[in-house]
Amino acid sequence: MNEEDKPKVIQDCQTKFEKRIKKATTADEVENLRIKYLGRKGEIRKLFGCIQEIPPEKRGEFGSLINELKSFMEKKFESMSEQLQNLSTSSTKEKPYCDLTLPGVPFVMGHQHPISQIIDDLLDIFRSMNFDVVSGYEVEDTFHNFDALNIHKWHPSRNPQDTFYVDPEHILRTQTSAVQIRAMENGSLPLRIVSMGRCYRRDASDATHYPVFHQIEGLVVDKNVNFCDLSGILTEMMTGVFGTRVEVRFLPSYFPFVEPGAETFISCPFCGGKGCNVCGKAGEIELGGSGMVHPQVLRNVNIDPTIYRGFAFGWGIERIAMMKYQIDDIRLFYDNNIDFLEQF
Ligand code: FA5
Repeated sequence: MNEEDKPKVIQDCQTKFEKRIKKATTADEVENLRIKYLGRKGEIRKLFGCIQEIPPEKRGEFGSLINELKSFMEKKFESMSEQLQNLSTSSTKEKPYCDLTLPGVPFVMGHQHPISQIIDDLLDIFRSMNFDVVSGYEVEDTFHNFDALNIHKWHPSRNPQDTFYVDPEHILRTQTSAVQIRAMENGSLPLRIVSMGRCYRRDASDATHYPVFHQIEGLVVDKNVNFCDLSGILTEMMTGVFGTRVEVRFLPSYFPFVEPGAETFISCPFCGGKGCNVCGKAGEIELGGSGMVHPQVLRNVNIDPTIYRGFAFGWGIERIAMMKYQIDDIRLFYDNNIDFLEQF
């Protein structure tokens, strides 16, 4: 090394150091640079090692230049000390913040209400049988909920003690049968519809009644439909819901809009008809009404009853869910009790 080069060596060392320190982005890179320049075998040490090659009269100046560079570097590292402290101990930017081997925090998932689950099951079943799904109005007029369904002006179900009136002509619908009328008014024949939704009655709440509840309504209007078709549809519906073959039995009953009308029973899906706690040892369960659409109802919506016939059914969805899940109190569906709802 000749004399003029000596300061250049120091300058080169400084230039390289500045370039490298600028590029250092991680704690490890900074630490490596510190060792490379200030370590026991580092660049500064090497520069001091050159002093003996310098003429004695220049050694003092050369040494002080190295010391300047050394303190420049130390200050640089010091100015990064806060950053170094954050980074150097663990290089946290490169290592994960958490221990990935720890078991995770359980993720709480919401799920469908049991009534919604039954509605979805029913929708699947009826779509698979080629039914159209239609919706009606929860605020309905008295014509569609009562008059067109052959329910006389004096019928007790119209009493304000049984029905929620919005005004003299509008009510909260008491039954999804109102949808039958709208479907027949609007739809083209033949007709094959199903509808599900809320109904309202001024019933005192007890284990089997609630002022708001859900019904499923089915209606088929065609030229040659009969009770056997109705029986077949209901058998398919309940077999689908319970996942086991059930039998349907009709017991004559009166609804003003069907003739003949029937209360409908299914064989108990839990005991196969032998009698158990779910069916109260009866071997069968009553689920709702059904029947052949009354000729007067067809006339009310301008369908000729000498050409077309129809059958309809209307069942309580809570009743179906109570049977399926063996729930003994309808109020549980509406209490928002998370312990109850989490079971489904
Ligand atoms: C009707 O509502 C008729 N529209 C059913 C029908 C349709 C018959 C088509 C013939 C042809 P009903 O009032 O029985 O019928 O009610 C049917 C079902 O709704 C009942 O079996 C019951 O499961 C359910 N339901 C009625 N009132 C309540 C209530 N307050 N709380 C819970 N469920 C109820």
